[in-house]
Amino acid sequence: MDEWGFTLEHNRSSIDYFEVSEIRETPQTIQQRKGCEPIAALTAYDYPMAKLLDAAGVPLLLVGDSLGMVVLGYPDTTHVTLDEMEHHVRAVARSKPRGLIIADLPFKSYETSQQALSSAQRLIDAGAEGVKAEGGLVILSQVESIISAGIPFLGHIGMLPQSVVEEGGYKVKGCDSVQEEALLADALALDQAGAFGLVLELVNAHVATEITDKVGIPTIGIGSGIGCDGQILVTTDLLGTSPDFIPKHVQPEQLLRDRMIGMLRVWKESLTNRKQ
Ligand code: KIV
Repeated sequence: MDEWGFTLEHNRSSIDYFEVSEIRETPQTIQQRKGCEPIAALTAYDYPMAKLLDAAGVPLLLVGDSLGMVVLGYPDTTHVTLDEMEHHVRAVARSKPRGLIIADLPFKSYETSQQALSSAQRLIDAGAEGVKAEGGLVILSQVESIISAGIPFLGHIGMLPQSVVEEGGYKVKGCDSVQEEALLADALALDQAGAFGLVLELVNAHVATEITDKVGIPTIGIGSGIGCDGQILVTTDLLGTSPDFIPKHVQPEQLLRDRMIGMLRVWKESLTNRKQ
């Protein structure tokens, strides 16, 4: 251990960053994995995290509006603005990852077809390679205007975090036959409209498997069981560095935040010790 308490040599790492393939992911390469290879998707909100995900070979990077809680300290995603999304998309795009960069259209930025298209275009201009928005049939005309402009679109159904305030919490969807049918209708409509994939958030596992079997596009689950074509997580939940809360569907191998706090304390104490 050196005088700063570090055991690693600075700027050295045992990880071979060049092990991963050089292929640049596209909506098509993501789709080709359906039924062949599980799709790993994680959130990135800034340049260093995007670099780490790239080094790990993650094929889909989501600049999620979960950045509202994880990075910006808001109580939920409804406070995130399009300006804030653009700022974070630019940071992620500067890392030039091999993974496909998808950005969330934030709350109230896709109320009409025209607004949806202009918001999506701003995220594309900032460096996103596709956009995601929450909802199925209720936002179909917005989805169609985005897709007809040639912008790749990732659907998101099930629990919709942008509706958390009106729904009164994060609740599992698809637990009765009415919800199951509505989810299936939303999934089929998004598939038909030309979405390249579909996030299923907190969907009953049996319903998520049924949707996965019935749609032609890959499903990417979060808290929706193992029957989906891929899984997406908020990266800080996976690493155990989320500041306030880690959801039940994520079991981090270790809480990295404890190690980080430990390193910070060691450094702080090393200053005190050097003075004595
Ligand atoms: O904003 C987000 O992080 C999401 C999830 C699907 C991970 O939309």
